[in-house]
Amino acid sequence: MADLLGDMRRTHTCGELRKSDVRQEVVLMGWVQRRRDHGGVIFVDFRDRTGLTQIVFNPEISAAVHEKAQIIRSEFVLGVKGKVMARPDDMINDKMDTGAIEVFITELKILSHAVTPVFQIEERVDASEIVRLQYRHLDLRRPKLQRNLIARHTAGRAVREYLNDRGFLDIETPFLTKSTPEGARDYLVPSRVNHGCFYALPQSPQLFKQLLMISGFDRYYQIVRCFRDEDLRADRQPEFTQIDMELSFVGEDDIMEITEGLIKEVFKRVRSIDIETPFERITYQESMARFGIDRPDMRFGLELCEVSDIVKNTGFKVFASAVKNGGIVKAINVKGGGGVEGSSGMTRKEIDELTAFAAIYKAKGLAWIKVKESEWQSPIAKFFTEDEKAALKERLNMEVSDLIFFVADSVKVTNEALGQLRNELGRRLNLIDSNVYRFVWVTHFPLLEYDETEKRHQALHHPFTSPLEEDMDKLESDPLSVRSRAYDMVLNGTEIGGGSIRIHSTELQERVLNLLGIGKEEAQEKFGFLLNALASGTPPHGGLAFGFDRLVMLLCQEESIRDVIAFPKTQKATCLLTDAPSVPTTSQLQELSIKVSKLEES
Ligand code: AMO
Ligand code: AMP
Repeated sequence: MADLLGDMRRTHTCGELRKSDVRQEVVLMGWVQRRRDHGGVIFVDFRDRTGLTQIVFNPEISAAVHEKAQIIRSEFVLGVKGKVMARPDDMINDKMDTGAIEVFITELKILSHAVTPVFQIEERVDASEIVRLQYRHLDLRRPKLQRNLIARHTAGRAVREYLNDRGFLDIETPFLTKSTPEGARDYLVPSRVNHGCFYALPQSPQLFKQLLMISGFDRYYQIVRCFRDEDLRADRQPEFTQIDMELSFVGEDDIMEITEGLIKEVFKRVRSIDIETPFERITYQESMARFGIDRPDMRFGLELCEVSDIVKNTGFKVFASAVKNGGIVKAINVKGGGGVEGSSGMTRKEIDELTAFAAIYKAKGLAWIKVKESEWQSPIAKFFTEDEKAALKERLNMEVSDLIFFVADSVKVTNEALGQLRNELGRRLNLIDSNVYRFVWVTHFPLLEYDETEKRHQALHHPFTSPLEEDMDKLESDPLSVRSRAYDMVLNGTEIGGGSIRIHSTELQERVLNLLGIGKEEAQEKFGFLLNALASGTPPHGGLAFGFDRLVMLLCQEESIRDVIAFPKTQKATCLLTDAPSVPTTSQLQELSIKVSKLEES
């Protein structure tokens, strides 16, 4: 086939020409954004990833080129040569970077025709996300996605440079490996040469990075794909990317300092925003008490307040019995929500909606009080004694026009429901400034949690996290009260990173595995390689992994990580572009000795 390009080569991109380039002869290559025919002169908005330039086909400049340009349509790919001209003053377009000029074309090569695109390549499109993902190659042409992926590149580059400059080594770890427990299901890959055996794709490189510390590499990082088969939502993908790090001879403060510096660098490079360090730190306990969740959005108030002691004997039985049964009662004071003079504040309908919202998180109801001039308007006020009212008034700082919400339930349900309600109220009442970045470290997570369905303890972070030294003696006697040396970095209510100081002795590692119901034999079988390595001279070490997709999502002010991943999967873990996953051929299955017992109806 003839070489369409011939000797034509780009001299400039579509985003760079300015008034100072006038009279230059240039060659541009790109896509037709839009074509307009103005009485014989054809104007085209010409696009590449750097922007748009107006190119002009004028029959007075070249009749032949103008004739050839008749057939071009949206998304055709062209190579054009022409002269940069200043636009007449009344035609200057201030909204375009290149709006002061246009290029009069003297040579045109049509490099590719294009079918009519299923949606226009614009900043905003009406097409559903399903259609956008099916035609991702077109979707990715949109300026928004181009900006996001370029920001992702810039962020990755800043990360590498920052860590390289500080003595970190980028070392790859295997994808075909053994299960690394991070709390999700594994993706399994059958081995053809080892019949009946499966690899697990790594949920993280956790154990390998610890082995690298044991091998003496001292400071490791990797921008690496992780695989987790879990229920998906806006900030979770089955394969996602971590900035994974591990350091030897360090404590929590060292890791926090270096990762804060990393984040500062990334925000500076990608958004030109100066982030202040050090970040605030709160303990898990405090986070749960004040915000009900372990990833608090610190951009607004509406903190939770416990009132169990005040209402434990109250006439409102729902409250009294929750406390009697080991649960708690907590409240949120929405200032002004009870209505100032002349307005009734939040309507019944809105309160009902919020009650339904709290019910998603298992709250059995949402009691409320509107503080009016002369009385409390509330379905439950009548149950309180004067003393209880006075105590509530003081504890909750209740003033005229306030609206108080209460949830009474187990500690878990109360915190979860009110914590989520707090975020919902923040959104509904416009209390959140989307241009503010508030970071917080959450520290001292519990080492373990009790899994009700499996009836056993599980690691809250992962089983290699060190218990806090001062809680070590309670490991066997009161395991659920043991705190760990784990920390999460939280940004605007999203957990963007998490890590811990690790266990670095075989003996302690075996003790913790034992608490998780993993006996010596099973421990050897699953983690023997780690236990052996720990016994061979292990430096104290710790690390952290950032969710890179989440970080970029927040940098780009997007709501979903799908908008910062080139080829993401849907909520059902499918790729609409390639139709993965798909049914393998019979011979592939035979080779692997795999029989699929029942195909799911689709
Ligand atoms: P963790 O499991 O907390 O820690 O993961 C680290 C960070 O990765 C992000 N993340 C995800 N992002 C998108 N989709 C997912 N499915 C997903 N799951 C997690 C989160 C999270 O903070 N090995 C440890 C780290 C360590 O201890 O050093 C680990 O993987 O932003
Ligand atoms: P009831 O006695 O069911 O009519 O409830 C009176 C008020 O208490 C209603 O506003 C309910 O939403 C609320 N309520 C019921 N159960 C709970 C609960 N567990 N926690 C908080 N409020 C509740």
